[in-house]
Amino acid sequence: PDSKYILAIESSCDDTSAAILENTKVLSNIVARQEIHEEYGGVVPELASRAHQQNIVPVVDIALKKANITKDMLSAIAFTQGPGLMGSLLVGGSFAKSLALALNIPLIAVNHMQAHILAHFIDEAEYDKPDFPFLALTISGGHTQIVQVNSFFEFKILGETTDDAVGEAFDKTAKILGFSYPGGPFIDKYAQKGNPKAYTFTKPKVEGLDFSFSGLKTQILYFIQKKTQENPNFIEENKADICASIQYTIIRILMDKLQVAVLQTGIKQIAIGGGVSANSGIRKALKETEKKYGWKTFIPKFEYTTDNAAMIGIVGYYKFMESFFSDSSVVSKARIEL
Ligand code: KG4
Ligand code: ZN
Repeated sequence: PDSKYILAIESSCDDTSAAILENTKVLSNIVARQEIHEEYGGVVPELASRAHQQNIVPVVDIALKKANITKDMLSAIAFTQGPGLMGSLLVGGSFAKSLALALNIPLIAVNHMQAHILAHFIDEAEYDKPDFPFLALTISGGHTQIVQVNSFFEFKILGETTDDAVGEAFDKTAKILGFSYPGGPFIDKYAQKGNPKAYTFTKPKVEGLDFSFSGLKTQILYFIQKKTQENPNFIEENKADICASIQYTIIRILMDKLQVAVLQTGIKQIAIGGGVSANSGIRKALKETEKKYGWKTFIPKFEYTTDNAAMIGIVGYYKFMESFFSDSSVVSKARIEL
C-alpha cells in the first residue's frame, strides 16, 4: 500500500524534536534536551529559542538518517503551531515553512495539546488505542485539562486549571525543597520511599471539573517555612515523606476530578498525556481504577509523554489524510484553542 512519510517538528518549549512517521508508525523520534535551563530554575525563553536555532538542522538531519529516508520521499511537514513560547515556536515554524516550500510539499500546522492526546494513536506493539469518545487528562508543565475527545478533530474541554498547571505545582514545590528544574521527577523518585500520609495538605475547592494548584504551592511553602524554623534540617530529614505527601495530594486532586468527569459523561475510557503522566504514582492510581471502577485506562509509552515530535507527526498524518493543510501565511500562536 501507499506509504505516507511525515516529517514532524516540535519546538514549543525547551526541547527541539524531529520525527519521521511512515503512516501511523514512528521511524525516528529525536529529542535534543536543553540542559541550560536547569541552573536557572525554569525555562528561560530567550535561551530556549537560541538553542532551538542551533539544534533544529542537526536534529532534523538525524531524524531523516535514523529513519533511513531522504528528503525527497517526504509527503508533508507537520509542525507545532502552538501553544507554547513564541520565540521557540517561531524557530520550528519558520524552519518547517521554508523546507515545505523548498520541497514543494504540504505544510500542516498542529496543536500541541491535541498532539499530547492523539499520541495514543501512534502504532506501538503492546499499546492499545482508545475508542471514541474517550476522556483525556492532559497534564504538563503548561497545561492541566480534562477533555472529551469525540474524534480525531473534535475536542471538548470539560475542565482546566484556573491558575498553575499540575507540572508547575510539582516544579514549584520541588524548588521549595531545593531540587533543580524540572523538579517533578525528583518528587516522584523520593515519594516512592516515603509515607504519603505523613503530612496532610488540604485540597483546593474548585467548581466542577476545573483545577487550581497555586494555593497548594503556597500552603506547602508556609508549611516548609514553619517546619524549618523549628528544625533547620527538616527537609533533609523528611524528604521522602514530604515528597510522598505532596504527590499524594496532587494525585487525589486529579483522581477526584476524573471520577466526576466519568459520572458526568458516562465515558469510562481515560487516556493520560503530557509530561506529568510520566509520574509513577499517577500511573499506579490510574491503573487501580480499572479493577476498582471498571475504567479502561491508556498510558502512553514513556517517550511519547514528554514533549516530542512523534506526537506532532501522528496528528500530521491524520490531517494529511483529510487534506487539512496550511498555506505559507500560517502564524505561530503562543495561545491557541484546543
Ligand atoms: O509535557 P512536558 O514535557 O512539557 C510541557 O509541555 O510542559 O511536561 C513537563 C512537565 C514538567 O513540569 C516536569 O516536572 C513534569 O512534566 N514531569 C513530572 C515527571 N516527569 C516529568 N512530574 C511528576 N513526576 C514525573 N515523573
Ligand atoms: Zn507538552
